[in-house]
Amino acid sequence: ADTLGAAAAQTGRYFGAAVVPNLLNDSSYAGTLSREFTSVVAENAMKWDATEPNRNQFSYGGGDQIVNYARARGMTVRGHALLWHAQQPGWAQGLSGSDLRSAAINHVTQVATHFRGQIHSWDVVNEAFADGSSGGRRDSNLQRTGNDWIEAAFRAARSADPSAKLCYNDYNTDGINAKSTGIYNMVADFRNRGVPIDCVGIQSHLSSNSNLSSYQANLQRFADLGVDLQITELDVGGSGSAQANVYRQVTQACMNVARCTGITTWGISDLHTWRPNDTPLLFDRNYQKKEAYHAVLDAL
Ligand code: XIL
Repeated sequence: ADTLGAAAAQTGRYFGAAVVPNLLNDSSYAGTLSREFTSVVAENAMKWDATEPNRNQFSYGGGDQIVNYARARGMTVRGHALLWHAQQPGWAQGLSGSDLRSAAINHVTQVATHFRGQIHSWDVVNEAFADGSSGGRRDSNLQRTGNDWIEAAFRAARSADPSAKLCYNDYNTDGINAKSTGIYNMVADFRNRGVPIDCVGIQSHLSSNSNLSSYQANLQRFADLGVDLQITELDVGGSGSAQANVYRQVTQACMNVARCTGITTWGISDLHTWRPNDTPLLFDRNYQKKEAYHAVLDAL
């Protein structure tokens, strides 16, 4: 195969990119996207601040543009993200307690219902665990509504869109550590109690010296709980062969775990990345394939 998407498809996987609606008209951007990728996710357009700027007033323009682009080209769509402590609209940042809880669950229900049947996998909850050694939840306005806010969100998402796979998504989970173990324990508990969860997203915002010695073992332990894994926001700081080697290791780990069903990079080319002083993607600023691209293609 000579594209990322076709190579991933040989083993039934997808290869995706995070996109912004405004660039879908840019021929270099869209040309690379449609040639190489088989899945998209909205970099920002489906977040809470974008989709519900005022309470109970929903705004789906950007998300619909992305879904329509993908459907016209046979690409699948990841949904990102129904609930998160960041990029909340101002009105929600000011809520607490049962008022915030009902606003949050209403948000999940409304957005998942709007996109019902069109989303391959939803990041239902994003980044709810703390960094460091605690293994516990991150403090946030959502967490302060009660520890059961995550399972309430998953149940609401399942009711609204029964065909979407429902994922928990986080970063600094690129190996076996306190944070990934906290998440692992939550997923095990959800599976035991019948809380609907289908997948875990490993963001993988990495650097060229990231230690990936337990990356595959971490994927495998989640797979052994009966959930799928997705590499959801892959980008790797640096350049050249150090960068390419990290991309290769991540791709190989996913390929070695049957339940790792796809990889998404957090952007397409180094021209448009959320890490502006870095060159973390697979295509350079001129949309030329980098060494990292060839490493990934080779490992798929
Ligand atoms: C980032 C976007 O790339 C930026 O454009 C935005 O300003 C901030 O959010 N983890 C996530 C993503 O789950 O939603 C974040 O995306 C990157 C980190």
